[in-house]
Amino acid sequence: MKAGDGSALRALPPDFVWGAATSSYQIEGAASRDGRGESIWDRFCRAPGRIRDGTSGDVACDFYSRFRDDIALMRRLGLDAYRFSIAWPRVVPEGRGRVNQRGLDFYDRLLDELLGADIAPYPTLYHWDLPQPLQDRGGWPRRATAEAFAEYVDVVAARLGDRVQHWTTHNEPFCASWLGYGLGVHAPGHVDRREALAAAHHVLLSHGWAVDVLRRAVSQAEVGIVVDSWPIYPYSSSPADEQAARLVDGMRNRWYFDALFKGAYPADMLGYYGDDVPPIRDGDLSTIATPIDFVGANNYSRQFVRADVNGGFPTDVRPATGNLTALGWEVYPDGLAELLTRLHREYGVRKLLVTENGAAYADVRTHDGAIHDVERIDYLASYIDAVASAVAAGVPVGGYFVWSLLDNFEWAEGYSKRFGLVYVDYPTLERIPKDSFFWYRDLIGRRKLAEAA
Ligand code: FCB
Repeated sequence: MKAGDGSALRALPPDFVWGAATSSYQIEGAASRDGRGESIWDRFCRAPGRIRDGTSGDVACDFYSRFRDDIALMRRLGLDAYRFSIAWPRVVPEGRGRVNQRGLDFYDRLLDELLGADIAPYPTLYHWDLPQPLQDRGGWPRRATAEAFAEYVDVVAARLGDRVQHWTTHNEPFCASWLGYGLGVHAPGHVDRREALAAAHHVLLSHGWAVDVLRRAVSQAEVGIVVDSWPIYPYSSSPADEQAARLVDGMRNRWYFDALFKGAYPADMLGYYGDDVPPIRDGDLSTIATPIDFVGANNYSRQFVRADVNGGFPTDVRPATGNLTALGWEVYPDGLAELLTRLHREYGVRKLLVTENGAAYADVRTHDGAIHDVERIDYLASYIDAVASAVAAGVPVGGYFVWSLLDNFEWAEGYSKRFGLVYVDYPTLERIPKDSFFWYRDLIGRRKLAEAA
């Protein structure tokens, strides 16, 4: 049974939210317009060798100027909701203190345009573009950065709270802390386990504080966090590989899920990290575990790990063949169903959204001017089917957001990987809807008809 033919999707609730997602640094461009301050990504992109194609988000999709046309595209798609992020350096250019009203004006215009198009805004308050001045003072490994985040959230809520109901504090705390501070592949490019663990704690702590700020400032607020997860599998059934998988799952998933939903870091991981765990003050964990209204789950693939023969950290085994996307990520839709089921059954999450799912493929414009991205359609169909199967099994999933609306700046991969439903011709910034755009539009349209019937 293929998703999109209507049958598998019958399990989805009538108010299921169909959306698409982006983030500020990946699409906005206008890096120095209207008083925007420098972010860690502006700095990181300028360092030689950090970004595969040597590019940056300086121009990106120029969403900053073209958002009205892009909202017209969202309308053509029939989206119920649009997930985007707010750039902290536009709002508080130094990270703390002075507020840049012109930065907030942009999000003000964006919200009005979305609401005028009957599209619900789902802003994320942090999708990795930390103001550089805060990094200059130590960044997320410092507790003061979490305090600065709560102040920034207060400013945003005061200005935009009258028009936003669904708030997300952070995007992917694992990536924000480990890719940037532990593994060195994202801004600010550090390789330091202590820094990564301190960053993770402060990102989570700032989430808890932000929940409180949002609830005080916005009476009808629904607040959540977006977590990423790649289900971890042992490469073989050997006890050593099983143990390796448990360790990587602890680092990648349980550390965050346990803190957010159980108010404790996993004991085995505390033992494993030892003295590298940062000081945790009384009350921090209960702040992190402040009850929230929804969890956004991001999922693209799964990961196999194998014990290291020399007793080091387990190795990541990437499949060389099979059904892989352009990033070498295995297409494994059951992994999304597993993630959703786990968050519901093991962690008691009562409302879930799929806030990112999608695939990069080497899209080309053919002689007819179109982009026939059949692989992306197959990918999305199979994953949406997996969501429907989780819902049929009793998992409360309320919405699904494709990553991404537009081709965009894919972090360290630069512009070399295209995830969009809409192709962006970077030299001209022309937008060309791909076949997957029309497929998603038709799927949403059919679902609406079925719901109305
Ligand atoms: C996620 C990020 C998102 C995008 C996708 C492909 O980890 O949240 O910004 O880069 O991966």
